[in-house]
Amino acid sequence: MYAIAIYNNKGGVGKSTLTVFMADFLASLTVRGRPMRVVVLDLDPQGSCGAALLGQETLTRARASGATLGRLARELDLGRKAVDPDPFLFTRQKSVTQGRAKPVAELTVMISDKTSAFAFEVNPLHRLTTLRERLRPELEKRFDIALLDLPGNIDPRNLLAVNGLIMSDSVITPVEVSRFSIDAMPDTVEMIRYARQQGDGQRPLFLGMLLNRTDKRGQQYQRNIPWIHEMAGRLEIPLFEQVLPNAQSLTAATDDALSTGSLRERYGSYYPQVKAVVGEAFRRWQTLEASQAANTG
Ligand SMILES: Nc1ncnc2c1ncn2[C@@H]1O[C@H](COP(=O)(O)OP(=O)(O)O)[C@@H](O)[C@H]1O
Ligand SMILES: [Mg+2]
Repeated sequence: MYAIAIYNNKGGVGKSTLTVFMADFLASLTVRGRPMRVVVLDLDPQGSCGAALLGQETLTRARASGATLGRLARELDLGRKAVDPDPFLFTRQKSVTQGRAKPVAELTVMISDKTSAFAFEVNPLHRLTTLRERLRPELEKRFDIALLDLPGNIDPRNLLAVNGLIMSDSVITPVEVSRFSIDAMPDTVEMIRYARQQGDGQRPLFLGMLLNRTDKRGQQYQRNIPWIHEMAGRLEIPLFEQVLPNAQSLTAATDDALSTGSLRERYGSYYPQVKAVVGEAFRRWQTLEASQAANTG
């Protein structure tokens, strides 16, 4: 299994949207003759990713059942015996195809809520490596890929969110082409380095900053791109070649509307770019792994 975190310490830059579309696209792929098994860990208690993938009704029911990541992390941390993760996995069922529409692929979602995330955070006995050591091996048995949607404004006290970074192999950081968004990058990079230090010292690998809502011919881009390159150089982080467009249809959509129908057909300008971003992310990952292996071996 390969785990990718989508993280930027700034809110509203498109983390959850990217996670939802990457999950949908990856779940539509085939590996070794069967559909790719995708799990999404929605570590943001606001739950916009969970709402988009499962629908608001299912999310509300799931929360009421108490099967959240905060609660699972607590049980894994405190319990001596193994904890069964299955009740914490919520499945978006494959849709029945109508007409020429492509079916919605099956995928699995894990959700959070404020109360359980907070209960995990406030207890000084809880650890930063619980999800990596105790949840990840269970997910390895069930899934090919995990996508982790992280909240903005994380600091070292957000044990659950930091746990998510530490259990990830790599991280993608969506940013908007604005001064505010770029200026927030040092905090984000600092958190990722903190997670690396608290974990195994090597992961998550930084796949790069990904420009969202971007029109390469627009004024905004032309004006800010030198500053973006300067920031990337200063922080020693890569920049994705691919960018995500500003999609009017997305801005107009509510979270719940995203879950109905095929994302592919409804968000024409955004979806193909997500595919390109996934391709670039895997190429970057392979290059980084190879260079790390060369450095350590
Ligand atoms: N490429 C895009 N084009 C248009 N709207 C977008 C785009 N990416 C995100 N949005 C919109 O911006 C808002 C914030 O996005 P979201 O993914 O929730 O950000 P985050 O998870 O980083 O807080 C949402 O209303 C979303 O629909
Ligand atoms: Mg979000």
